[in-house]
Amino acid sequence: MSKLSLSKEKIKVVLLEGVHPDAEAMFRQDGYNNIHVLKSTPADDELKALLKDAHILGIRSRTQLKDEVLDACEKLMAVGTFCIGTNQVDLDTCNQRGIPVFNAPYSNTRSVAELVLGEIILLLRGIPEKNAKAHRGEWFKSAINSNETRGKTLGIVGFGHIGSQLGILAEAVGMRVKYYDIENKLPLGNCQAVNSLEALLPQVDVLSLHVPATDQTANMITGKELSLLPQGAFLINAARGNIVDIDALADHLQRGHLNGSAIDVFPVEPASNNDPFVSPLTAFDNVILTPHIGGSTAEAQLNIANEVADKLIKYSNNGTTATAVNFPEVSLPQLHDDLTRVMHIHQNKPGMLEQINHAFSSQGINIAAMYLQTAGEVGYVIMDVQCESSDPIVNQLKDIDGTIRVRVLH
Ligand code: NAI
Repeated sequence: MSKLSLSKEKIKVVLLEGVHPDAEAMFRQDGYNNIHVLKSTPADDELKALLKDAHILGIRSRTQLKDEVLDACEKLMAVGTFCIGTNQVDLDTCNQRGIPVFNAPYSNTRSVAELVLGEIILLLRGIPEKNAKAHRGEWFKSAINSNETRGKTLGIVGFGHIGSQLGILAEAVGMRVKYYDIENKLPLGNCQAVNSLEALLPQVDVLSLHVPATDQTANMITGKELSLLPQGAFLINAARGNIVDIDALADHLQRGHLNGSAIDVFPVEPASNNDPFVSPLTAFDNVILTPHIGGSTAEAQLNIANEVADKLIKYSNNGTTATAVNFPEVSLPQLHDDLTRVMHIHQNKPGMLEQINHAFSSQGINIAAMYLQTAGEVGYVIMDVQCESSDPIVNQLKDIDGTIRVRVLH
Protein backbone atom coordinates (compact mmCIF):
# COMPACT_ATOMS: atom_id res chain seq x y z
CA MET A 1 0.00 0.00 0.00
CA SER A 2 1.24 3.51 -0.79
CA LYS A 3 2.62 5.34 2.22
CA LEU A 4 0.42 8.33 1.38
CA SER A 5 -2.80 6.43 1.89
CA LEU A 6 -4.12 5.89 5.42
CA SER A 7 -5.06 2.47 6.71
CA LYS A 8 -8.22 2.15 8.80
CA GLU A 9 -6.19 1.35 11.93
CA LYS A 10 -4.44 4.69 11.63
CA ILE A 11 -7.57 6.76 11.12
CA LYS A 12 -8.39 8.42 14.44
CA VAL A 13 -12.10 8.64 15.12
CA VAL A 14 -13.31 10.88 17.96
CA LEU A 15 -16.92 10.58 19.13
CA LEU A 16 -18.03 13.20 21.67
CA GLU A 17 -21.13 14.04 23.72
CA GLY A 18 -22.26 10.46 24.31
CA VAL A 19 -23.07 9.68 20.70
CA HIS A 20 -25.20 6.49 20.59
CA PRO A 21 -22.95 3.40 21.09
CA ASP A 22 -24.11 1.95 17.76
CA ALA A 23 -21.95 4.53 15.98
CA GLU A 24 -18.79 3.23 17.64
CA ALA A 25 -19.90 -0.35 16.98
CA MET A 26 -20.33 0.41 13.27
CA PHE A 27 -16.81 1.87 13.00
CA ARG A 28 -15.33 -1.15 14.82
CA GLN A 29 -17.25 -3.59 12.66
CA ASP A 30 -15.80 -1.91 9.59
CA GLY A 31 -12.23 -2.32 10.84
CA TYR A 32 -11.64 1.04 12.56
CA ASN A 33 -10.14 0.62 16.03
CA ASN A 34 -8.44 3.94 16.80
CA ILE A 35 -11.64 5.26 18.34
CA HIS A 36 -11.90 7.73 21.21
CA VAL A 37 -15.32 8.01 22.84
CA LEU A 38 -16.23 10.68 25.40
CA LYS A 39 -19.51 11.23 27.22
CA SER A 40 -19.18 15.02 26.98
CA THR A 41 -17.07 17.67 25.27
CA PRO A 42 -13.79 18.50 27.02
CA ALA A 43 -12.87 22.11 27.77
CA ASP A 44 -11.16 24.11 25.04
CA ASP A 45 -7.48 23.19 25.42
CA GLU A 46 -8.19 19.53 26.07
CA LEU A 47 -10.54 19.47 23.07
CA LYS A 48 -7.92 21.01 20.79
CA ALA A 49 -5.31 18.50 21.98
CA LEU A 50 -7.72 15.62 21.35
CA LEU A 51 -8.61 16.85 17.87
CA LYS A 52 -5.08 17.81 16.78
CA ASP A 53 -4.52 14.49 15.00
CA ALA A 54 -8.17 13.36 14.62
CA HIS A 55 -9.34 12.38 11.13
CA ILE A 56 -13.03 11.86 11.80
CA LEU A 57 -15.08 13.72 14.41
CA GLY A 58 -18.59 12.93 15.62
CA ILE A 59 -20.42 15.49 17.79
CA ARG A 60 -23.97 16.31 18.85
CA SER A 61 -25.35 19.80 19.27
CA ARG A 62 -23.19 21.18 22.12
CA THR A 63 -19.66 21.04 20.70
CA GLN A 64 -18.97 24.34 18.99
CA LEU A 65 -16.80 23.69 15.96
CA LYS A 66 -15.84 27.20 15.05
CA ASP A 67 -12.68 28.65 13.47
CA GLU A 68 -10.52 28.52 16.58
CA VAL A 69 -11.12 24.82 17.21
CA LEU A 70 -10.91 23.97 13.50
CA ASP A 71 -7.53 25.71 13.38
CA ALA A 72 -6.26 23.15 15.88
CA CYS A 73 -7.45 20.21 13.75
CA GLU A 74 -4.47 19.42 11.57
CA LYS A 75 -5.80 16.25 9.97
CA LEU A 76 -9.57 16.53 10.15
CA MET A 77 -11.11 14.81 7.14
CA ALA A 78 -14.84 14.70 7.96
CA VAL A 79 -17.35 15.78 10.62
CA GLY A 80 -20.60 14.08 11.57
CA THR A 81 -23.21 15.93 13.61
CA PHE A 82 -25.19 13.18 15.31
CA CYS A 83 -28.31 15.34 15.41
CA ILE A 84 -30.56 17.26 13.04
CA GLY A 85 -28.98 20.71 12.93
CA THR A 86 -25.50 21.86 11.94
CA ASN A 87 -25.53 25.39 13.45
CA GLN A 88 -22.81 24.39 15.90
CA VAL A 89 -20.35 23.91 13.02
CA ASP A 90 -18.77 26.62 10.92
CA LEU A 91 -19.80 25.07 7.62
CA ASP A 92 -18.04 27.62 5.39
CA THR A 93 -14.72 27.14 7.11
CA CYS A 94 -15.11 23.37 6.82
CA ASN A 95 -15.97 23.80 3.13
CA GLN A 96 -12.88 25.90 2.50
CA ARG A 97 -10.71 23.34 4.28
CA GLY A 98 -12.14 20.42 2.34
CA ILE A 99 -13.98 18.90 5.29
CA PRO A 100 -17.43 17.52 4.45
CA VAL A 101 -20.03 17.73 7.24
CA PHE A 102 -22.76 15.10 7.49
CA ASN A 103 -25.94 15.10 9.59
CA ALA A 104 -29.17 13.13 9.89
CA PRO A 105 -31.96 15.54 9.03
CA TYR A 106 -34.79 13.02 8.75
CA SER A 107 -33.97 10.35 11.34
CA ASN A 108 -36.70 11.53 13.70
CA THR A 109 -39.48 12.09 11.17
CA ARG A 110 -41.55 9.20 12.47
CA SER A 111 -41.09 10.27 16.11
CA VAL A 112 -42.57 13.72 15.42
CA ALA A 113 -45.42 12.36 13.30
CA GLU A 114 -46.39 9.83 16.01
CA LEU A 115 -46.35 12.46 18.76
CA VAL A 116 -48.59 14.75 16.73
CA LEU A 117 -51.03 11.95 15.98
CA GLY A 118 -51.22 11.18 19.72
CA GLU A 119 -51.83 14.85 20.47
CA ILE A 120 -54.61 15.05 17.88
CA ILE A 121 -56.40 12.13 19.57
CA LEU A 122 -55.93 13.60 23.06
CA LEU A 123 -57.01 17.12 22.03
CA LEU A 124 -60.13 15.92 20.22
CA ARG A 125 -61.19 14.06 23.41
CA GLY A 126 -60.43 17.03 25.68
CA ILE A 127 -57.98 14.89 27.63
CA PRO A 128 -55.42 17.61 28.52
CA GLU A 129 -58.06 19.54 30.47
CA LYS A 130 -59.56 16.42 32.10
CA ASN A 131 -56.08 15.23 33.03
CA ALA A 132 -55.11 18.59 34.54
CA LYS A 133 -58.31 18.72 36.61
CA ALA A 134 -57.87 15.15 37.86
CA HIS A 135 -54.34 16.03 39.02
CA ARG A 136 -55.92 18.79 41.10
CA GLY A 137 -58.48 16.41 42.58
CA GLU A 138 -61.39 17.48 40.31
CA TRP A 139 -63.71 14.95 38.61
CA PHE A 140 -64.65 16.21 35.15
CA LYS A 141 -66.69 13.39 33.59
CA SER A 142 -68.27 14.77 30.46
CA ALA A 143 -68.74 13.90 26.78
CA ILE A 144 -69.04 17.55 25.78
CA ASN A 145 -66.34 18.56 23.30
CA SER A 146 -65.10 14.97 23.24
CA ASN A 147 -64.80 13.59 19.73
CA GLU A 148 -63.39 10.70 17.75
CA THR A 149 -60.79 11.41 15.11
CA ARG A 150 -62.71 9.48 12.47
CA GLY A 151 -64.16 11.81 9.85
CA LYS A 152 -62.46 14.94 11.23
CA THR A 153 -60.32 17.08 8.97
CA LEU A 154 -56.63 17.54 9.63
CA GLY A 155 -54.92 20.45 7.88
CA ILE A 156 -51.18 20.10 7.41
CA VAL A 157 -49.01 23.07 6.54
CA GLY A 158 -45.77 21.81 4.97
CA PHE A 159 -46.18 18.39 3.32
CA GLY A 160 -42.51 17.37 3.60
CA HIS A 161 -41.02 14.42 5.46
CA ILE A 162 -42.99 14.89 8.69
CA GLY A 163 -46.15 16.40 7.20
CA SER A 164 -46.62 13.60 4.67
CA GLN A 165 -45.83 10.88 7.25
CA LEU A 166 -48.39 12.43 9.59
CA GLY A 167 -50.91 12.53 6.73
CA ILE A 168 -50.57 8.78 6.23
CA LEU A 169 -50.91 8.03 9.96
CA ALA A 170 -53.92 10.36 10.30
CA GLU A 171 -55.69 8.71 7.37
CA ALA A 172 -55.14 5.35 9.05
CA VAL A 173 -57.29 6.52 12.00
CA GLY A 174 -59.99 7.76 9.64
CA MET A 175 -59.17 11.46 9.34
CA ARG A 176 -59.58 13.48 6.17
CA VAL A 177 -56.29 15.13 5.35
CA LYS A 178 -55.79 18.39 3.46
CA TYR A 179 -52.46 20.10 3.09
CA TYR A 180 -50.85 23.27 1.86
CA ASP A 181 -47.23 23.42 0.70
CA ILE A 182 -45.44 26.11 -1.30
CA GLU A 183 -44.05 23.35 -3.49
CA ASN A 184 -46.13 21.13 -5.71
CA LYS A 185 -46.18 17.98 -3.55
CA LEU A 186 -47.49 14.64 -4.72
CA PRO A 187 -50.65 13.79 -2.73
CA LEU A 188 -50.17 10.52 -0.79
CA GLY A 189 -53.11 8.22 -0.07
CA ASN A 190 -56.27 10.33 -0.19
CA CYS A 191 -54.58 13.49 1.11
CA GLN A 192 -55.77 16.54 -0.83
CA ALA A 193 -53.66 19.56 -1.72
CA VAL A 194 -55.16 23.01 -1.12
CA ASN A 195 -53.60 25.90 -2.97
CA SER A 196 -53.31 28.52 -0.24
CA LEU A 197 -53.02 28.74 3.54
CA GLU A 198 -56.07 31.03 3.65
CA ALA A 199 -58.12 28.44 1.75
CA LEU A 200 -56.99 25.62 4.05
CA LEU A 201 -57.66 27.27 7.42
CA PRO A 202 -61.51 27.42 7.37
CA GLN A 203 -61.71 23.74 6.34
CA VAL A 204 -59.92 22.07 9.25
CA ASP A 205 -60.74 20.70 12.69
CA VAL A 206 -57.05 20.44 13.57
CA LEU A 207 -54.22 22.44 12.02
CA SER A 208 -50.68 21.06 12.31
CA LEU A 209 -47.59 22.98 11.21
CA HIS A 210 -44.61 21.21 9.61
CA VAL A 211 -42.70 23.94 7.77
CA PRO A 212 -39.03 24.88 8.23
CA ALA A 213 -37.86 28.16 9.77
CA THR A 214 -37.57 30.63 6.87
CA ASP A 215 -38.30 34.31 6.40
CA GLN A 216 -41.63 33.28 4.93
CA THR A 217 -42.66 31.04 7.82
CA ALA A 218 -41.67 33.45 10.63
CA ASN A 219 -44.96 34.56 12.21
CA MET A 220 -46.89 32.60 9.60
CA ILE A 221 -49.73 32.04 12.10
CA THR A 222 -50.85 35.30 13.71
CA GLY A 223 -54.21 36.44 15.02
CA LYS A 224 -55.39 36.94 11.41
CA GLU A 225 -54.77 33.32 10.45
CA LEU A 226 -56.15 31.97 13.75
CA SER A 227 -59.38 33.91 13.09
CA LEU A 228 -59.82 31.95 9.87
CA LEU A 229 -59.90 28.64 11.77
CA PRO A 230 -63.43 27.36 12.58
CA GLN A 231 -64.80 27.85 16.10
CA GLY A 232 -63.49 25.01 18.33
CA ALA A 233 -60.51 24.09 16.15
CA PHE A 234 -57.11 22.99 17.49
CA LEU A 235 -53.61 24.16 16.60
CA ILE A 236 -50.47 22.01 16.82
CA ASN A 237 -46.95 23.32 16.36
CA ALA A 238 -44.05 20.87 16.54
CA ALA A 239 -42.06 22.65 13.84
CA ARG A 240 -40.28 25.84 14.88
CA GLY A 241 -40.93 28.29 17.71
CA ASN A 242 -41.20 31.46 15.65
CA ILE A 243 -43.93 30.26 13.30
CA VAL A 244 -46.81 31.01 15.69
CA ASP A 245 -47.53 34.30 17.45
CA ILE A 246 -47.93 32.87 20.97
CA ASP A 247 -49.75 35.91 22.37
CA ALA A 248 -52.32 35.72 19.58
CA LEU A 249 -52.73 31.99 20.27
CA ALA A 250 -53.23 32.68 23.99
CA ASP A 251 -55.86 35.28 23.08
CA HIS A 252 -57.82 32.85 20.88
CA LEU A 253 -57.68 30.18 23.61
CA GLN A 254 -58.78 32.69 26.22
CA ARG A 255 -61.79 33.72 24.13
CA GLY A 256 -62.68 30.07 23.53
CA HIS A 257 -62.32 30.40 19.77
CA LEU A 258 -59.83 27.53 19.87
CA ASN A 259 -60.62 24.44 21.96
CA GLY A 260 -57.01 23.59 22.64
CA SER A 261 -53.52 23.39 21.32
CA ALA A 262 -50.31 21.36 21.50
CA ILE A 263 -47.02 23.23 21.35
CA ASP A 264 -43.57 21.62 21.36
CA VAL A 265 -41.45 24.56 20.19
CA PHE A 266 -41.31 28.11 21.52
CA PRO A 267 -39.97 31.52 20.45
CA VAL A 268 -37.65 31.42 23.48
CA GLU A 269 -36.71 28.06 24.94
CA PRO A 270 -34.82 27.45 28.21
CA ALA A 271 -31.14 26.80 27.56
CA SER A 272 -31.11 23.78 29.85
CA ASN A 273 -33.33 21.62 32.06
CA ASN A 274 -32.21 23.77 35.02
CA ASP A 275 -33.68 26.97 33.56
CA PRO A 276 -37.32 27.96 34.07
CA PHE A 277 -39.90 27.67 31.29
CA VAL A 278 -42.02 30.80 30.92
CA SER A 279 -44.96 31.05 28.52
CA PRO A 280 -48.46 32.60 28.54
CA LEU A 281 -49.70 29.16 27.51
CA THR A 282 -48.99 27.62 30.94
CA ALA A 283 -52.27 29.21 32.07
CA PHE A 284 -54.38 26.89 29.88
CA ASP A 285 -55.41 23.37 30.93
CA ASN A 286 -56.42 22.56 27.36
CA VAL A 287 -52.92 23.09 25.97
CA ILE A 288 -50.35 20.31 25.79
CA LEU A 289 -46.91 21.79 26.39
CA THR A 290 -43.84 19.70 25.66
CA PRO A 291 -40.16 20.75 25.92
CA HIS A 292 -39.11 20.44 22.25
CA ILE A 293 -39.09 16.65 22.38
CA GLY A 294 -40.99 15.94 19.15
CA GLY A 295 -38.04 14.07 17.72
CA SER A 296 -36.52 12.84 20.96
CA THR A 297 -36.93 9.07 21.07
CA ALA A 298 -34.60 6.12 21.50
CA GLU A 299 -35.46 5.05 17.94
CA ALA A 300 -34.54 8.44 16.51
CA GLN A 301 -31.21 8.40 18.37
CA LEU A 302 -30.49 4.96 16.96
CA ASN A 303 -31.46 6.07 13.43
CA ILE A 304 -29.20 9.10 13.78
CA ALA A 305 -26.27 6.95 14.94
CA ASN A 306 -26.70 4.57 12.03
CA GLU A 307 -27.22 7.26 9.40
CA VAL A 308 -24.34 9.54 10.37
CA ALA A 309 -21.85 6.74 11.11
CA ASP A 310 -22.75 5.17 7.75
CA LYS A 311 -22.09 8.45 5.91
CA LEU A 312 -18.74 8.98 7.68
CA ILE A 313 -17.61 5.41 7.00
CA LYS A 314 -18.68 5.63 3.33
CA TYR A 315 -16.72 8.86 2.89
CA SER A 316 -13.66 7.44 4.59
CA ASN A 317 -13.86 4.13 2.70
CA ASN A 318 -14.71 5.29 -0.80
CA GLY A 319 -15.02 9.08 -0.96
CA THR A 320 -18.82 9.30 -1.26
CA THR A 321 -20.13 12.68 -0.07
CA ALA A 322 -23.85 12.28 -0.90
CA THR A 323 -26.03 14.45 1.42
CA ALA A 324 -23.05 16.37 2.86
CA VAL A 325 -24.42 19.76 3.93
CA ASN A 326 -21.45 21.90 2.87
CA PHE A 327 -19.60 19.97 0.21
CA PRO A 328 -19.84 18.85 -3.43
CA GLU A 329 -22.07 15.78 -3.40
CA VAL A 330 -20.75 12.72 -5.21
CA SER A 331 -22.07 9.19 -4.93
CA LEU A 332 -19.24 6.85 -5.89
CA PRO A 333 -19.27 3.18 -6.90
CA GLN A 334 -17.11 0.64 -5.07
CA LEU A 335 -13.49 0.79 -6.15
CA HIS A 336 -12.33 -2.07 -8.40
CA ASP A 337 -9.58 -4.25 -6.87
CA ASP A 338 -7.03 -3.37 -9.56
CA LEU A 339 -7.57 0.41 -9.35
CA THR A 340 -6.42 3.24 -7.10
CA ARG A 341 -8.80 6.07 -6.23
CA VAL A 342 -7.23 9.53 -6.05
CA MET A 343 -9.44 12.26 -4.56
CA HIS A 344 -8.48 15.86 -5.10
CA ILE A 345 -10.19 18.61 -3.15
CA HIS A 346 -9.37 22.07 -4.46
CA GLN A 347 -10.40 25.70 -4.65
CA ASN A 348 -13.18 26.07 -7.19
CA LYS A 349 -11.40 28.27 -9.75
CA PRO A 350 -10.75 28.14 -13.50
CA GLY A 351 -7.94 25.94 -14.79
CA MET A 352 -7.88 23.38 -11.96
CA LEU A 353 -9.20 20.46 -13.99
CA GLU A 354 -6.70 21.12 -16.77
CA GLN A 355 -3.79 21.02 -14.30
CA ILE A 356 -5.10 17.85 -12.64
CA ASN A 357 -5.47 16.13 -16.03
CA HIS A 358 -2.02 17.28 -17.00
CA ALA A 359 -0.53 15.77 -13.80
CA PHE A 360 -1.97 12.35 -14.67
CA SER A 361 -1.04 12.47 -18.37
CA SER A 362 2.50 13.68 -17.65
CA GLN A 363 3.01 10.57 -15.50
CA GLY A 364 1.47 8.30 -18.14
CA ILE A 365 -1.33 7.20 -15.79
CA ASN A 366 -4.45 5.78 -17.39
CA ILE A 367 -7.71 7.14 -15.94
CA ALA A 368 -10.40 4.44 -15.74
CA ALA A 369 -13.15 6.69 -14.36
CA MET A 370 -13.49 10.29 -13.33
CA TYR A 371 -16.07 12.17 -11.23
CA LEU A 372 -16.31 15.90 -10.62
CA GLN A 373 -18.57 18.12 -8.56
CA THR A 374 -18.29 21.63 -7.18
CA ALA A 375 -20.09 23.45 -4.34
CA GLY A 376 -19.36 26.91 -3.02
CA GLU A 377 -15.66 27.57 -3.02
CA VAL A 378 -14.68 23.93 -3.36
CA GLY A 379 -14.26 21.44 -6.19
CA TYR A 380 -14.00 17.67 -5.70
CA VAL A 381 -12.45 15.49 -8.40
CA ILE A 382 -12.17 11.74 -8.05
CA MET A 383 -10.06 9.66 -10.44
CA ASP A 384 -9.98 5.86 -10.50
CA VAL A 385 -6.62 5.06 -12.06
CA GLN A 386 -4.24 2.22 -12.86
CA CYS A 387 -0.82 2.82 -11.30
CA GLU A 388 1.85 0.89 -9.40
CA SER A 389 2.56 3.55 -6.80
CA SER A 390 0.39 6.57 -6.14
CA ASP A 391 3.06 8.57 -4.30
CA PRO A 392 4.46 10.46 -7.34
CA ILE A 393 1.05 11.55 -8.63
CA VAL A 394 -0.12 12.52 -5.13
CA ASN A 395 2.98 14.65 -4.64
CA GLN A 396 2.46 16.32 -8.03
CA LEU A 397 -1.23 16.98 -7.29
CA LYS A 398 -0.34 18.49 -3.90
CA ASP A 399 1.89 21.00 -5.69
CA ILE A 400 -0.94 22.39 -7.83
CA ASP A 401 -1.80 25.87 -6.62
CA GLY A 402 -5.28 25.80 -5.08
CA THR A 403 -5.07 22.21 -3.83
CA ILE A 404 -6.74 21.80 -0.43
CA ARG A 405 -6.29 18.09 0.16
CA VAL A 406 -5.42 14.87 -1.67
CA ARG A 407 -6.58 11.45 -0.49
CA VAL A 408 -5.81 8.03 -1.88
CA LEU A 409 -7.68 4.72 -1.57
CA HIS A 410 -6.53 1.31 -2.73
P1 NAI B 1 -39.09 19.03 5.16
O1 NAI B 1 -38.08 19.94 4.60
O2 NAI B 1 -39.06 17.60 4.77
O3 NAI B 1 -40.55 19.60 4.86
C1 NAI B 1 -40.89 20.95 4.99
C2 NAI B 1 -41.98 21.25 3.97
O4 NAI B 1 -42.44 22.58 4.17
C3 NAI B 1 -41.50 21.16 2.53
O5 NAI B 1 -42.36 20.34 1.78
C4 NAI B 1 -41.53 22.60 2.05
O6 NAI B 1 -41.81 22.74 0.67
C5 NAI B 1 -42.64 23.17 2.90
N1 NAI B 1 -42.60 24.62 3.05
C6 NAI B 1 -41.52 25.44 3.16
N2 NAI B 1 -41.90 26.71 3.28
C7 NAI B 1 -43.25 26.73 3.24
C8 NAI B 1 -44.22 27.75 3.31
N3 NAI B 1 -43.88 29.04 3.45
N4 NAI B 1 -45.52 27.40 3.22
C9 NAI B 1 -45.89 26.10 3.07
N5 NAI B 1 -45.01 25.09 2.99
C10 NAI B 1 -43.72 25.39 3.08
O7 NAI B 1 -38.97 19.18 6.76
P2 NAI B 1 -39.43 18.15 7.86
O8 NAI B 1 -38.34 17.18 8.15
O9 NAI B 1 -40.76 17.62 7.53
O10 NAI B 1 -39.51 19.11 9.15
C11 NAI B 1 -40.54 20.07 9.27
C12 NAI B 1 -40.32 20.93 10.51
O11 NAI B 1 -40.26 20.11 11.69
C13 NAI B 1 -39.01 21.74 10.51
O12 NAI B 1 -39.29 23.03 10.99
C14 NAI B 1 -38.16 21.07 11.54
O13 NAI B 1 -37.26 21.96 12.15
C15 NAI B 1 -39.20 20.58 12.53
N6 NAI B 1 -38.77 19.47 13.39
C16 NAI B 1 -39.10 19.54 14.72
C17 NAI B 1 -38.71 18.54 15.59
C18 NAI B 1 -39.10 18.60 17.02
O14 NAI B 1 -38.40 18.03 17.85
N7 NAI B 1 -40.19 19.23 17.34
C19 NAI B 1 -37.91 17.41 15.13
C20 NAI B 1 -37.70 17.39 13.69
C21 NAI B 1 -38.10 18.41 12.88
